[in-house]
Amino acid sequence: MGKVIAIANQKGGVGKTTTAINLGAAFVNEQKKVLLIDLDEQANATIGLGLSRELVEATSFDLLSKDMEIDDTIYYTIDPLFHIIPASIKLSGLETLLMEHTNKQLILAAKIAKVKDEYDYILLDCPPSVGIIVDNALFASDSVIIPVECEFFAYDALTQMVNKINQIQKDKKKLKGSLLIEGILLTKLDNRNVFGYKIMDKIQELFPNRTFKTIINRSSHLQEAPMYGKSVLKFAYHSRGSKEYRELATEIIQNK
Ligand SMILES: Nc1ncnc2c1ncn2[C@@H]1O[C@H](COP(=O)(O)OP(=O)(O)O)[C@@H](O)[C@H]1O
Ligand SMILES: [Mg+2]
Repeated sequence: MGKVIAIANQKGGVGKTTTAINLGAAFVNEQKKVLLIDLDEQANATIGLGLSRELVEATSFDLLSKDMEIDDTIYYTIDPLFHIIPASIKLSGLETLLMEHTNKQLILAAKIAKVKDEYDYILLDCPPSVGIIVDNALFASDSVIIPVECEFFAYDALTQMVNKINQIQKDKKKLKGSLLIEGILLTKLDNRNVFGYKIMDKIQELFPNRTFKTIINRSSHLQEAPMYGKSVLKFAYHSRGSKEYRELATEIIQNK
């Protein structure tokens, strides 16, 4: 059975989408079959994997708001083992749309259940918010990766995220489910900036068993790859960013 992993942090710009795309590609590199579900209205993962908004008809919005079957929302990328459910700008209206819906936080979990056996990993790229979309993602997930940028405000957001996860863990327990923290991923570390290392030490000290050994450094290849609709593995296989995401994939596969 496939493992569902949410990539979440309510703070924007911390590397959630970069991680979703490149960790996905790194799993594929290990011959794993991957489905990435883009849940952010900005559709950065969708575009970063080479799909265009205009050509996409069914999206994660349709999955969450309608009776649409998950199979009808899955698209192929240039990699045969890497599939994606694209996002739509319409996701911004989902909260209001589902206001009266009962068990609205469980919609995604029910839909994903139908394809869980078909994939090794299902990655959920979350929006930078706390709301119905992130609740759906966390209820549907076996574990969460929290990317954290090595900068001052990171710590506050991380604490809030961990509190949120604790709350969902309690709710899921009642439903006989669970939610693990797969790991905190330190991202965008700048080796010219001593301050980043201080934040890194502090986070490792606070969450010693939960921080991934792999750290993602700042890299221009990681920034540039999505412009070509490619993962960093396809864009520059031997670059540092590619190597780090491949190490992260290995770390997660071995964690199992
Ligand atoms: N390791 C990195 N090195 C350099 N730039 C990065 C790195 N990770 C992400 N970025 C850049 O930072 C910005 C925000 O990253 P993104 O993955 O979109 O964050 P989020 O999805 O959390 O908002 C993007 O421009 C992305 O290219
Ligand atoms: Mg994003």
